[in-house]
Amino acid sequence: MLNMESAEKLSPVMSAYGRFPITVVKGKGSYVWDSEGKKYLDFTAGIAVLALGHVPDAVEEALQKQLGTLWHCSNLYHIASQEKLAAMLTELSGCDQVFFCNSGAEANEGAIKLARRYAHLIQKKEQGHIVTFDHSFHGRTMATLTATAQEKIQKGFGPLVSGFKYLPYNSDEAIQTLSKDKDCIAVMLEMVQGEGGVIPADEAWVKKLDQVCREKEILLIVDEVQTGIGRTGTMFAYEQYGLKPDVVTVAKALGSGIPIGAVLAKKKVSQVFTPGTHGSTFGGNPFSTTAGIATLEAFKKQNVLAQCKANGTYLKRQLHALKEKHPLQIKDVRGKGLIIGVETADPAIDTVTRLREEHQVLVLTAGEKVLRILPPLNTDKNEIDRFIQALDTVLSNQ
Ligand SMILES: Cc1ncc(COP(=O)(O)O)c(C=O)c1O
Repeated sequence: MLNMESAEKLSPVMSAYGRFPITVVKGKGSYVWDSEGKKYLDFTAGIAVLALGHVPDAVEEALQKQLGTLWHCSNLYHIASQEKLAAMLTELSGCDQVFFCNSGAEANEGAIKLARRYAHLIQKKEQGHIVTFDHSFHGRTMATLTATAQEKIQKGFGPLVSGFKYLPYNSDEAIQTLSKDKDCIAVMLEMVQGEGGVIPADEAWVKKLDQVCREKEILLIVDEVQTGIGRTGTMFAYEQYGLKPDVVTVAKALGSGIPIGAVLAKKKVSQVFTPGTHGSTFGGNPFSTTAGIATLEAFKKQNVLAQCKANGTYLKRQLHALKEKHPLQIKDVRGKGLIIGVETADPAIDTVTRLREEHQVLVLTAGEKVLRILPPLNTDKNEIDRFIQALDTVLSNQ
């Protein structure tokens, strides 16, 4: 039954989100303030967006300058900042060309279109499908929610888009099925399933998957929307698996909070996007690409990847110590860099609520029984200690 609220009570904003009962009005570094002036330690980073924390000085400065120069001009003209950011991303990723858009779902939508067009034009496979994995998350547009192998995301939105098949993640069954599959044109994969419960891909499994893809000329698309731009301690998580994907999608952290997404691809694939085949009014505009450039430059100048690795190692060590102390409440600690999942015995939302209400600490869930911890990559030992102390207190009083 739909919630038929009376007209007086109806919010002018659609109820697509379950929201926590605070209104965030200001942010700086690892902290946010609510409308009542309360300060919170924010270990959500806007769901893995704020790699450099809230309103980072270096990006703010670049955007202030851009604000007085040019915001938007459309993709009918050359955009210097777009070309510069594309060059930076190709150098970092090993891909050859970039298409810019505005979000993660749109980046994955672009990757799906790229794979289909490649299959049509180059491979001459008209009826191919794309394989994705159980518990994956690739977005909320019709094609990307179809790619997302989770019933709760798809329910009520049929008919779904045709041309997708799902296989089990981290499972040899997937390798066997794929090696017999004649019509698979591409595999789309997260190196750490974020929304699905912070589940890292198994290294040996990824090697086998990559091998099958190479043997059968199946495109390998890596969805780095949540893991990309440093979240796992390397610029892209696939680097830690020795992969050289054909297509990579990024979004979240690339603009430090200014909406931007990107599809990165090897030339053999990217060449199928010719004028008129794909597009976006806002994609890669001067403002968002300036944010992207400033973000990547700050990564280099401030050695953010090294900070992420050190902070991630420290946070994980402290969490493992808490697991020893609270073995009945903490079932598992996992993740890479600063995307960390803590599997709990009780519903994780209870811990999230108590951390916020009693300790002014913000974290997320990933599924029913996983706490998802996503601090800014440049957090520090003091902030991590504060979070650990708060979690320890909550677990001690459960
Ligand atoms: C792995 C992954 N892909 C795609 C998306 C969709 O990104 P967006 O919400 O920017 O459309 C997300 C969002 O959480 C994600 O985690």
